[in-house]
Amino acid sequence: MKAGQIQLAVGALVVLTIGIGLHVAGVFDYFSMQAYSDRWTAKRESAQQGADMSSAETSKDLAGDPPRAELTAAPTQPAKVGLFRPPLESDMPTGEFGDVIRRGREIFVDTPRAMPAYVGNSLRCVSCHLDAGRLADSSPLWAAFVSYPAYRSKTKSVTTFQQRLQGCFEYSMNGRAPLLGAPELVALESYAYWLASGAPLDPKIAGRGYPPLAPPAQQADFVRGEKVYTDNCALCHGADGVGQRTQSGYAVFPALWGSDSFNWGAGMGRISNAAAFVKANMPLGLPGTLTEQEAWDVALYMNSHERPQDPRYTGSVQGTQRDFHTTEDSMYGREVAGKMLGDTGPPKPFKPLKTSRP
Ligand code: HEC
Ligand code: HEC
Repeated sequence: MKAGQIQLAVGALVVLTIGIGLHVAGVFDYFSMQAYSDRWTAKRESAQQGADMSSAETSKDLAGDPPRAELTAAPTQPAKVGLFRPPLESDMPTGEFGDVIRRGREIFVDTPRAMPAYVGNSLRCVSCHLDAGRLADSSPLWAAFVSYPAYRSKTKSVTTFQQRLQGCFEYSMNGRAPLLGAPELVALESYAYWLASGAPLDPKIAGRGYPPLAPPAQQADFVRGEKVYTDNCALCHGADGVGQRTQSGYAVFPALWGSDSFNWGAGMGRISNAAAFVKANMPLGLPGTLTEQEAWDVALYMNSHERPQDPRYTGSVQGTQRDFHTTEDSMYGREVAGKMLGDTGPPKPFKPLKTSRP
């Protein structure tokens, strides 16, 4: 068999494993999937092993699909000295305050099902903020909460925490923003507030965001990125980057590009953000195993594919590029394989994606 065929065979096995896991056991066993790749296992052994297994029991999920705790990777991160630790899930308060916190967590880990009227893709907040928004260096919610209000160049104004959340819905979730004060935003904010219990009010708090990388030694490269992708990412996110869903349509592995992913206005669309996220968090379960150069290359490769239009579209790609993407950090409006990225016309009208069982 050729390398490509082996890859496909492995991919098929993965889908099969997921299918069997979901249907027979009702639980997706992430680690049994890894057993199919010796290379993977070897890498895993040499990877940094961690102590911080903070994922706790999830409250049972919304609609019969597996509870998110099973789908979200247990963090493998060495405990860092001096890092803020959010309260344990088991310490969530009871009563009214506890209820709204729990609702916020539920929205965060299962966004399309919890808020179908606002989400336009297969992603969840936890897709990019791992371990239910608890994990340091994965843009954790507790670090975000203590950093707003703040001036943002994106909005050219002082943004409150709820306004920051609105942006996530418009761009990362390719959806619509709930109004300020909407119960969903209040719930997400309450969850973040609770996670930040005891944290210092400090936008420079350790663990915030994704640790930025130094500029790449060699300019990021599409062809090298494609190789990194095939070797390290395609297994889960699919050779075509569109992720993998269960038969019922539940996205087990989120889409990295295409109509089911974040749109051109999202933070992850910046190559530097994507490289930083990938270096610290991907491949899932093996964070930190790519070199910085590989992270840059694969981030450029990922962001050199088509995705939903920037909602700030001004009527032309050139105009939108001039207004929002005049940076080397964005591939919007640039030509890749003879096609101009972003040249897909005005944003499509919002349509919530079918995500749950019929
Ligand atoms: C496609 C990946 C992705 C998804 C999905 C996503 N985010 Fe984010 N989020 C990011 C990136 C990247 C940043 C930082 C980039 C920036 O500064 O623009 C960020 C930043 C944030 C911040 C500010 C962090 C800080 O320290 O300032 C908050 C709060 C946040 N996201 C909440 C959410 C919520 C709530 C959802 C779900 C409704 C969500 N995100 C979905 C990628 C994502
Ligand atoms: C073992 C499976 C697996 C592998 C391998 C893997 N990922 Fe992921 N990736 C995931 C899962 C699952 C999530 C969502 C995390 C969650 O929900 O807890 C994710 C999330 C992401 C996200 C944010 C969400 C989105 O769709 O934009 C990006 C970007 C990403 N991965 C890029 C990569 C890249 C690049 C590689 C290769 C270097 C890679 N991943 C390898 C499973 C994997």
